[in-house]
Amino acid sequence: MIPPAVHRLARSLPAGRLPAYLYDLGALREHARRIREALPERVELYYAAKANPEAEILAALADRVDGFEVASGGELAHVADAAPGLPLAFGGPGKTPEEIESALRLGVARFHVESAHELAVLAHSAARSGARAGVLLRFNLPVSGGLLDGSALAMGGRPAPFGIDPSEADAVVRGFTDGAYGRLELRGVHAHLASGLDAPRQLAVAGSVVRWSAGLAARHGIALPEVNVGGGMSVDYARPGRRFDWTAYGKGLGRIADDHPGVTLRIEPGRAVSAYCGWYATEVLDVKHSHGEDFAVVRGGTHHLRTPAAKGHDQPCAVLAAEEWDRSRPMSRGGPVTLVGQLCTPKDVLARAVPVPGGLRAGDRVVFAMAGAYAWNISHHDFLMHPRPGFHFLPASSVRPEDGPR
Ligand SMILES: Cc1ncc(COP(=O)(O)O)c(C=O)c1O
Repeated sequence: MIPPAVHRLARSLPAGRLPAYLYDLGALREHARRIREALPERVELYYAAKANPEAEILAALADRVDGFEVASGGELAHVADAAPGLPLAFGGPGKTPEEIESALRLGVARFHVESAHELAVLAHSAARSGARAGVLLRFNLPVSGGLLDGSALAMGGRPAPFGIDPSEADAVVRGFTDGAYGRLELRGVHAHLASGLDAPRQLAVAGSVVRWSAGLAARHGIALPEVNVGGGMSVDYARPGRRFDWTAYGKGLGRIADDHPGVTLRIEPGRAVSAYCGWYATEVLDVKHSHGEDFAVVRGGTHHLRTPAAKGHDQPCAVLAAEEWDRSRPMSRGGPVTLVGQLCTPKDVLARAVPVPGGLRAGDRVVFAMAGAYAWNISHHDFLMHPRPGFHFLPASSVRPEDGPR
């Protein structure tokens, strides 16, 4: 179901201003409010800015989240500017000494440290600058019972460049207890093991991470008062109406928190927060019959909306038929139509075999849903040098189409 304001704008924008990203900020804020409401108070919600770092998205989320997770010096500077004043957690592999220094200057709340070497670089920079830093050690923890099987993107629980191997955990923690990392304070553990896990599997992973952290703390006789169990809450592009069960997840996290008094839990979802608020609206330029199949070529393509190519799915979409049209109108024959972009590559497919029983014609509009996460910002914009899409941020469903592009 396309929200009325998005529908109106997708219909009324002149063709020359398509394709365009339409972001429903009211829906985003409401969705984030519900997520926050489903979580117990002792669970902090950080938004992973990598999913969609548009300044308007960050500002819309600012009073709905406890902080932001950033994964580069670029994201760090951008988020600090777009949504000032909120705690930032700086994660990601391969942090450069320059990024670490600027993060220390900006007073980043938590460093998610990825290796013993990175810890040494951070400690050295902190000593030089006189800054203090709170550290969560990111571990690549083993996960039993095939919990990560079938996840969209496993980043841990197997050989991977992410996080510290658990076999090094005791040595790294001993570095802290021996005082080797003077200005760094070890606050706890971080683990982001996979993307695309439903609530029961997320809870099982969270439970095992928190237990593992408690074991580490007990072995060393220290407190590890924070555990960040990562993001990766599932988003189902094949069934847009099916949402991650935040209520069950919140209740489950509450139980885990009750079992570990004194531990603050934190999560850092990206996709499941912002995916639903974004729409990519475009126009059919041409319809072709090829070897028995129908194709519609739309303005734009995967160089703007790379999500379906990156994840291998069909982007959910709706057709807005245009009755008025002043040129010849090639039309599909009533069967399924594959929607492709303008790039000279067979990979430029937005959605395969979309049923359009009434036929799809040149001039009709197509609105792709679930385009609010890992969409524009992961796309290869400059390939073929087509114009960039417009960007429209709808603050509430009452916004009128005359709201211009950014
Ligand atoms: C460390 C970390 N945290 C959070 C996320 C956000 O994941 P998602 O957008 O699937 O929730 C990612 C995504 O790759 C990540 O690497």
